[in-house]
Amino acid sequence: MNLAFIGCGGISDAHLHGIVELRRAGYLAINITAVCDINLARAVEFSSKVKAQLGTDAAIYTDYKEMLAKESLDAVTVLVTHDLHHSVAGDCFAAGVHVQMQKPLAIAPSFGRQMIEDARKYDRILTLSEPSVLGAANVAAARAVQDGVLGQVYLVLDYATSAAATGFFGGTPWRHMKGKAGAGWINDHGVHRTHSFLEMIGGIREVFAYTEIFEKVRRGNGVTIQPTGEDAAVMVLRFNNGALGHWMCATAIHGEEMGGVYVYGSKGCLRPGRQLSLEGGKQIPFAQIIETYAPDVMKDPFAHAYLELWEAISDKKQPISSAEKGQEALSVVFAALESAHIGQPISVEDIMDGSRRTYEDTVIREMNLHS
Ligand SMILES: NC(=O)c1ccc[n+]([C@@H]2O[C@H](COP(=O)([O-])OP(=O)(O)OC[C@H]3O[C@@H](n4cnc5c(N)ncnc54)[C@H](O)[C@@H]3O)[C@@H](O)[C@H]2O)c1
Repeated sequence: MNLAFIGCGGISDAHLHGIVELRRAGYLAINITAVCDINLARAVEFSSKVKAQLGTDAAIYTDYKEMLAKESLDAVTVLVTHDLHHSVAGDCFAAGVHVQMQKPLAIAPSFGRQMIEDARKYDRILTLSEPSVLGAANVAAARAVQDGVLGQVYLVLDYATSAAATGFFGGTPWRHMKGKAGAGWINDHGVHRTHSFLEMIGGIREVFAYTEIFEKVRRGNGVTIQPTGEDAAVMVLRFNNGALGHWMCATAIHGEEMGGVYVYGSKGCLRPGRQLSLEGGKQIPFAQIIETYAPDVMKDPFAHAYLELWEAISDKKQPISSAEKGQEALSVVFAALESAHIGQPISVEDIMDGSRRTYEDTVIREMNLHS
């Protein structure tokens, strides 16, 4: 498979590492033949990392459309700001190229729907690199809960704070602007969490949320912005199977971070990546859960994402991290944003089918300001 990277920023190293891991595991069929970034220095630097780690020469581009026209590509992985996901994917499909998209699938649900339709129209594969549901540990957690280790699932509690204070999460100002990112960290990080809830516990029926922008000014590396993306969100979830969820994520955090996921059921508590605690004090370490439920799954989630892309193209195998599941995860996040925007609980179904979209319209208005 001839693969190209579109975007060579912060996360591209983890992707290259995933491909190196796949090679180590004996999958030699994936080759990075071209890389593209509008920032030439980043494309050049990434191409030299490809040479050092895979031993191949990747052609360098600053215009992905030129790359699509000149290179003989099977697939691309798209690693750019969220506002570009749908248009880049559409151009790739039209050029006959399969796409692996980074989470979130799109900046907002209507664009995700468009991408899924475009993939069907051009008969191309669209997978999602969503590390929170890939890799042995995450696959094992979902399979264990589906297998009933917790009995009936009652509750999921998930709290995540990132001490970005008044600086930029990941060093990237765009993540705090909803015209570029779709919201603040609640979209960027939030889809990781909602996707993993869907995989472990099942569909979410309704969401209620409060959100805020506490930090009105953020600064770093000589750049000052007035964020338009939310920096704190507190949410309540009701799942289709009756389970409840309390979920929170925030970057307006000073001093000390905290985080952790607890899934409670009628038989015990699962702390993904840590342990399963059962009644009577019995604790099962996570290594044993992986051994039982995902012994043959690649450990590295990014390696697993490329394996899924490869198997979807070559064998038409349904990926765990599908675009459709990514669209549902994005819709849960937008149900929370819509709820906070209009002050009432929101059905995820109404976001999925586009009938509730007042928050999404504010994202589109801001996207249009910059286009
Ligand atoms: N764990 C994860 O799965 C994970 C982690 C981080 C980021 N991501 C996702 O990966 C994507 C990129 O994030 P990042 O942290 O690398 O961001 P980044 O800002 O560090 O990098 C984005 C890169 O895209 C380039 N770019 C912008 N427009 C382009 C265009 N039209 N053509 C080519 N290149 C272009 C920029 O110059 C930049 O180098 C986002 O969708 C993000 O949500 C996923």
